[in-house]
Amino acid sequence: MSSSSEQSVVERLQSFVSENKRVILIGTAAAVLAAGGVAYYASTSRRPPPSPSIGEPEGDVEKGEKKKDKKKNKKRKSNKDKDGPLLEEITPKEPKVVEVVEAGQLSFNWRIDRTAAAASLKAKGNTAYQQRKFAVAADLYTRAMAVSPKPEPVFYSNRAACYVNMSPPQHDRVVADCDEALKLDSSYVKALNRRGIALEASEQYEGALRDFTAATILDKFQNESSAQSVERVLKKLASKKATEILVTRERRLPSYTFVYAYFSAFRPRPLPTLPEDASTGDNTLLLALQALEAGDYIHSMTLTNESLEQGISWDAGKAEALNLRGTFKFLIGDVQGAKEDLSASTDLLPSLTQSWVKIASVYMEQGDPPKAFQCFEEAIKHNPNDPDIYYHRGQVLFIMNDFEGAAENYTKSTALDDTFVFSHIQLAVAQYKSGLLANSMATFRRTLKAFPQRSEPQNYYGELLLDQQRFQDAVDKFDRAVELERAKPPPMNVLPLVNKGLALYQWQQDIGAAESCCNEALEIDPECEAAVATLAQLSLQQGRVEKAVEMFERQTELARSEPELVNALTYQFASGAQLEFMKNYPKMADQLSQIARQMV
Ligand SMILES: *[C@@H]1O[C@H](CO)[C@@H](O)[C@H](O)[C@H]1NC(C)=O
Ligand SMILES: *[C@@H]1O[C@H](CO)[C@@H](O)[C@H](O)[C@H]1NC(C)=O
Ligand SMILES: *[C@@H]1O[C@H](CO)[C@@H](O)[C@H](O)[C@H]1NC(C)=O
Repeated sequence: MSSSSEQSVVERLQSFVSENKRVILIGTAAAVLAAGGVAYYASTSRRPPPSPSIGEPEGDVEKGEKKKDKKKNKKRKSNKDKDGPLLEEITPKEPKVVEVVEAGQLSFNWRIDRTAAAASLKAKGNTAYQQRKFAVAADLYTRAMAVSPKPEPVFYSNRAACYVNMSPPQHDRVVADCDEALKLDSSYVKALNRRGIALEASEQYEGALRDFTAATILDKFQNESSAQSVERVLKKLASKKATEILVTRERRLPSYTFVYAYFSAFRPRPLPTLPEDASTGDNTLLLALQALEAGDYIHSMTLTNESLEQGISWDAGKAEALNLRGTFKFLIGDVQGAKEDLSASTDLLPSLTQSWVKIASVYMEQGDPPKAFQCFEEAIKHNPNDPDIYYHRGQVLFIMNDFEGAAENYTKSTALDDTFVFSHIQLAVAQYKSGLLANSMATFRRTLKAFPQRSEPQNYYGELLLDQQRFQDAVDKFDRAVELERAKPPPMNVLPLVNKGLALYQWQQDIGAAESCCNEALEIDPECEAAVATLAQLSLQQGRVEKAVEMFERQTELARSEPELVNALTYQFASGAQLEFMKNYPKMADQLSQIARQMV
């Protein structure tokens, strides 16, 4: 309910991004080409050609075995249960040439015997597995490993499947076996999925995410269930991390832009008159309110705390101080503390409608709209002509998509006091949302005329124009808003700059211009979440995953509420996992770029 315009930019950005989620994932994958493509070709050309005279016999044996297994594989697969594992054969990726050279011609027959013995043990293991005799099957795979002349990833992966199915499942062993299988063949998708499941079950979400991400990309994004695993684990990981962060992190005020927007959502009120024999606390409160007016929020917060500790001598003043401390608590995320202060404030001075309205925003943050509406009713009982009440009730209705109710309440707010720019702007936006395009544009034009020196009407009008893809007009409005912001004393509201960047990107795909707008915004206000979020997405679009991860980490630091934090963490972990993939599978670059080309 803070009406933070920053929120709206971030939200629009996010809906834009979630619509394009898969595209972004692919775009990121394509970036692997840039990172690993050169290395891939270099290593291919360096590999020595296989020597036919030594290579052939081994190759023949291998071919025969492979054929047989493939047939078996097909037959079994047809009557296999869905989760059934096992029968896939992994063809070793590297040519056998090397091994034959090492083993030498003499050991050739011996090797065939041992290979056959291992294959037979594996087959028995598969049968036992299908009879759900998992301990027996695991033992057979162990024996297959022991006799096999060389380590085979499939033995480990199959034994891991046994451990998954034992009761209770032996996740540690699953992980250990999949580690072995993946050491032998890092592209072994089944082993990746199996290890992912085991890690997820042991709440090692970061590892699980790494594995499911790799499996998804290696499967060329075709396996819906892998993709769902990625999303599921991401959700668990992000909410777990968010909870940890919220418990441990130091509470502090959000960015200047955010706090400014919050306080701007209330009409200014005159400073209170101190009693004749004002106490120290009374004077401190006055200083706190003056710091607030000057936009020095941190100082104002400290002074507010002090004033209450020193003691305030009259009830209305104390109610005012509690209102302010409650507001700061709300802004630093201490919702419960905020409610206590604000309620104490209304107990002392029930006609302090601002406190009622703020309690309503606490209820909204806690997802309880009926209670919020009760607060508005209560406030109206005490002061039916306070325009703030109707503006904020309009905001709640707006959030709940009741645009007509919202428009009525904004209109009422303006009727009581027409000097507050935000009720005009919000009315125009609500009209737009309810499909009254002409009314909305007319309201905007009136507002621009009535508030020629305010940047906000320009900025929001620009947003609507952008929504209608009237790019040139939108950019003109953002430019005008930036100009007005620069003309007033600092600190500057940088949102029009970020909006201009987004507009240039959507209009001309001009990433460079978009980035320089955001960078400029961040130079002015390093805590502007909208700029950080936009930069993160732009980096992702260009496949600059490392930079994107860095920006998402910054977004995580700036996130105020739990949902914002979860959202930022989700992107941070998703892009981090893809970065890890790029490092672990440099040779996948070529294939990935092909997928990306197909999908475009
Ligand atoms: C897709 O992945 C799941 C594991 O997430 C696996 O069980 C399944 O066999 C895979 N499907 C295909 C068609 O590869
Ligand atoms: C003010 O008090 C609140 C709680 O009473 C505390 O969380 C906050 O850190 C204090 N702020 C300052 C700047 O002293
Ligand atoms: C404002 O919203 C309330 C609550 O939905 C509604 O009852 C009322 O009619 C609206 N309009 C005005 C002018 O208060």
